[in-house]
Amino acid sequence: MRRRGSLKWDRYDPSVLPCWVADMDFDMADPIRRAVAGLSAAGAFHYPLRRSRPPDRLVADAFAERMEKRYAWSVDPDCTLVVTDLVQALYAAVTALTRKGEGVAVQVPTYPPFRGAIEDTGRQVLAWPANPGPGGYGWDLGWFSQDPRPPAKLLILCNPHNPTGRMLGRKELSELADHVVRNDLIVVADEIHADIVYDGRVHIPFASLGPEVSRRTVTLQSATKSFGIPGVRCAVMHFGSRALLERFTAVVHPRLLGQCGIVGIEATLAAWRDGQEWFEAVLAHLQGMRDYVCAVLRAEMPEIRLHPPQATYLAWLDCSAMALDRPAGDFFLHQAKVAFSAGQTFDPQSSPFVRMNFATSTTIIDEILDRMRQAIRHR
Ligand SMILES: Cc1ncc(COP(=O)(O)O)c(C=O)c1O
Repeated sequence: MRRRGSLKWDRYDPSVLPCWVADMDFDMADPIRRAVAGLSAAGAFHYPLRRSRPPDRLVADAFAERMEKRYAWSVDPDCTLVVTDLVQALYAAVTALTRKGEGVAVQVPTYPPFRGAIEDTGRQVLAWPANPGPGGYGWDLGWFSQDPRPPAKLLILCNPHNPTGRMLGRKELSELADHVVRNDLIVVADEIHADIVYDGRVHIPFASLGPEVSRRTVTLQSATKSFGIPGVRCAVMHFGSRALLERFTAVVHPRLLGQCGIVGIEATLAAWRDGQEWFEAVLAHLQGMRDYVCAVLRAEMPEIRLHPPQATYLAWLDCSAMALDRPAGDFFLHQAKVAFSAGQTFDPQSSPFVRMNFATSTTIIDEILDRMRQAIRHR
């Protein structure tokens, strides 16, 4: 992993085991490797054209096919922009679909760039707080009626949710959809973790909940999380109506978003079309890792509490019972030589939390758990 030169493995010194940024430690799927190697072997790095069409249109078609097949959700490829990454898409959507000073609601704790996309563009963060319940974290719709000031114009919805691993089900999504329609909100639905769901669950795309929901929803997706290829930089941005797409492009011309390179395009096409077998094996491993991590923490480190993630390869660990005198992320980095994502980067009040990425081998996870155990014992 260190030889590959990755953000995850190279940020900290070699004595530290990383389980922070959402990147997986597995070998890439063979169909993706072949697709990328094929480009290189053929020296095929010209301005690309595929079947007389710009290749990003093939990504839009493949996205539409995939959504239909997996979720019975009909998507118009012509309302799909192919961009380089989800964070870019998010900044662009917030910029185009709201004005400076307006309120943008976001589930908290939140993937840090969501907050960045609101603050950096001069909008106001309306932090929609998670309530821990027996079934995991949830977000109470009553919060909206407490009249946040300024009122929300746009909601950034992350489902499945990073960092808690919570996956909202049909009832919660339908209630949210009713609220969104009644209050004329725009929704940017980040569904990058949609494939990585456990125990036979099936993700429900927010925009699939009906035409009124769809026409106000921008869905963000990519193959990069599920297939462990975030470096290829290719993502899609789907607008649930032509009117919403036109409202967006009137402010942000698609040319301003740049174009995804041919490596990202071919890797995405190979992943979505031919990578399913690889993905199923990885998903089975991840579910095993989720169960293993939860069982070990429960049995041997009861001072760390968590709701087992229903989706994602991320676990949101509540270390508040350890009563540490510093953020939990600092404690584990220095005492255990384990790098988690620090809780306070997801929510200023969450310094007793860390986010663990368990998308690795059993050998590495055992070493991480062992280091945590020792650090807790000797604290
Ligand atoms: C919810 C969520 N959205 C977006 C991203 C980043 O996507 P990209 O690399 O395409 O910007 C991540 C990465 O961890 C994520 O968890």
